[in-house]
Amino acid sequence: MNLGLNIDHIATLREARKINDPDPLEAVFIAKNAGVSQITIHLREDRRHIHDDDVKKIIQTSILPINVECACDEKIIDFLCEQKPHKITLVPEKREEVTTEGGLDLNRSNLEKIIKEFQKNQIQTALFIDPNKDCTTKAKELGADGVEFHTGEYANLHLMLYSNLSRHKNSIKNLELDRNLLSKLLDESFCKLIDCANLAKDLHLGVFAGHGLNYQNVSSIAKIPAITELNIGQSIIARSIFTGLEKAIKDMLELIR
Ligand code: PXP
Repeated sequence: MNLGLNIDHIATLREARKINDPDPLEAVFIAKNAGVSQITIHLREDRRHIHDDDVKKIIQTSILPINVECACDEKIIDFLCEQKPHKITLVPEKREEVTTEGGLDLNRSNLEKIIKEFQKNQIQTALFIDPNKDCTTKAKELGADGVEFHTGEYANLHLMLYSNLSRHKNSIKNLELDRNLLSKLLDESFCKLIDCANLAKDLHLGVFAGHGLNYQNVSSIAKIPAITELNIGQSIIARSIFTGLEKAIKDMLELIR
């Protein structure tokens, strides 16, 4: 199982002061030494964390493959075709969202064209999708090289069942449910991930997963044989505040391998 480290939140911390520290590029070297296989960054339309300069600098300097997440935005797509990261993961984006909510709508008319454009530039393309069989098949039809399954639903159910989130002010209101029901929904969510990962593998797609994965919920996902890569950010960067980044990464790698 490969770990893709999402370093957006290092830039979030920098942007909290609008200065030049901490520098996300520094994390790339620590990540490489700690055993990370890929660096993931999300160039959002509002540039709330990662900026164009970060993308350029990180792609030029990195000794690890770079996976850039982005929305289907024409200017960003042109910019990334020039920068040529190893992989691009297309994600949905809403300005007002705190983080990426839900998978990509695969009925967008221009997806096939965008995927072809990336491939013409030797950039692998993955689509960030909900664990849904129709979406998985459609991703293949559109010509994607891989799919990243959105694990947010599984992660939210896990948090509400096994952490104190339900008693916190950030409790997820629509998941304030009876524990037996939460447990059933969690099982269903997990089974969907297994089924879709198997289907994606059978379709010869790259099979990745991510969003909301943390030290408590990652082990079961890491045991799904068809999944070869997990992209994890917030939980590792959060732990690194207390333990340092290298230890936070190594703790995660121990759980997923
Ligand atoms: N994968 C994708 C496609 C994402 O959009 C994100 C969030 O930026 C992640 C993985 C990482 O999610 P988290 O920060 O919750 O680990």
